Amino acid sequence: MEIKVESGDITKHPAKAIIINLFEGVKRPGGATGAVDKALDGGISALIADGETKGKASEVTLVHSLGKITSPRVLVAGLGKQEKFDLNTIRNLMGTSLRRARGTGATSVATILHGAGIAGLNPEECAQAIAEGAVMGSYRFRRYKDNTNGDEPKEVETLSIVEADKAKLDAVRRGVERGQILGQAANHTRDMANEPANALPPAELAERAEALAADAGLQCEVLNEGQLKQLGMGGVLGVGSGSANPPRFIILKYRGGRKAENGMALIGKGITFDSGGISIKPAAGMEAMKGDMSGGAAVIAAMWALGKLKPKINVTALVPTAENMPSGSAIRPGDVLRAMNGKTIEVINTDAEGRLILADAICYARKEKLSPLVDVATLTGAMQIALGPSATGFMANDDSLAAAISQAGDTSGELMWRFPLIDEYREGLKSNVADIKNTGNRNGGAISAAKFLHFFAEDTPWAHIDMAGTDDSDKEKGIYVKGSTGIPTRTLINLVLGMAQQSKG
Ligand code: BES
Ligand code: MN
Ligand code: ZN
Repeated sequence: MEIKVESGDITKHPAKAIIINLFEGVKRPGGATGAVDKALDGGISALIADGETKGKASEVTLVHSLGKITSPRVLVAGLGKQEKFDLNTIRNLMGTSLRRARGTGATSVATILHGAGIAGLNPEECAQAIAEGAVMGSYRFRRYKDNTNGDEPKEVETLSIVEADKAKLDAVRRGVERGQILGQAANHTRDMANEPANALPPAELAERAEALAADAGLQCEVLNEGQLKQLGMGGVLGVGSGSANPPRFIILKYRGGRKAENGMALIGKGITFDSGGISIKPAAGMEAMKGDMSGGAAVIAAMWALGKLKPKINVTALVPTAENMPSGSAIRPGDVLRAMNGKTIEVINTDAEGRLILADAICYARKEKLSPLVDVATLTGAMQIALGPSATGFMANDDSLAAAISQAGDTSGELMWRFPLIDEYREGLKSNVADIKNTGNRNGGAISAAKFLHFFAEDTPWAHIDMAGTDDSDKEKGIYVKGSTGIPTRTLINLVLGMAQQSKG
């Protein structure tokens, strides 16, 4: 989809559908919506008076213009209550209304600059939200479907943002460019996460990373099993040992900062399929575990965006990737593994595999003197139960990093909720035979998992994002469709952009 920025009058736009908006409770719309209403001889105010159109958030009313304006269709998108309105409303309304426009067969769509009218938001930010919402909301994963039977509507090819005030257009263009990159990054994450595990073993995830790195001008290095052995990455090797598809360790580097600076690390869990291993999972819902590399995918996609946006900062991405399978060569409960820093881990449950591979990645990051460290993982069912699908939990040993993550989440419309890192729960991880064991108490399971990682991060500023409850959506809503959500790709990007700003000032 191409996104164009045009100056002009939406009532004269030739697109196959135009998207205008309405706040809840407004009886006589003003601005661009008012102009369209007038051109339609009060057709929209009549629908409001009738109670058919209420302006509720996520409501979209299709009005056929029957030759009264140039465009054949008008979509009136609800903005909800004015006091609750924010950039995320814009993202979601674009997702919902663009899918609706696509459903009518419209291949060209025009929209107004939502949010910049009576809501008075910054035009550049509004434009960015429109682009993010449009790119994410129109996402489809159709690789394995029959695309020739005509059942699925055609793509919307062009989206025009029409704004009368010429003074705003430069800012709108900047916002669109950035929003497209953030939206596309989230969609790259979704493409990897939605891919079935038979098509995306560790070596293929590494190839996806290489391709995205090449596209964005990043350095990329992929370590194979032999190199993992040399580095002593017993966690990654152990988890990978049960699979016919050998593990890899993906390293991406973006360098926009000072030469002497080591920079920060983004670390992503790249389990391409999590069967649980010998501690095998129940059958119901196991197919969702093809998405157990979502954290790694988000990190790879965020790096791609950094290559495009070019902030002044150095960032290294580390994605340990393996397939967790049961077999004659798999690790067993009771086995002891040695992580890259020499510490030993007793494996109590082979289904607590994410922390085993992340331990090595954290050791690697610390050896490279990277700081701060942010790891992203679909780590625990406990986090999914704690927060449900609408917020992502995280823990941190550093308050300013934690604040930056919360802030980046708010900017992205991805709610990030800090959990405590309770030192006492380290006790549950004491092993009789090794330095640590990989599972502790069931209660507070997300925090025990974080404490396991904390044992390897030690005092390096570090945060752990557990996205087990938010990586995937079971419904279509706003910018989300069924399948991978792309969370927390945009949060990671905004986090890095914010840190680059800070180190500059
Ligand atoms: N990948 C899972 C966690 C998960 C669960 C992600 C649900 C997405 C949705 C992880 O590897 C896992 O199996 N965790 C175990 C840990 C337990 C054995 C301590 C869990 O949460 O049950
Ligand atoms: Mn597991
Ligand atoms: Zn897992």
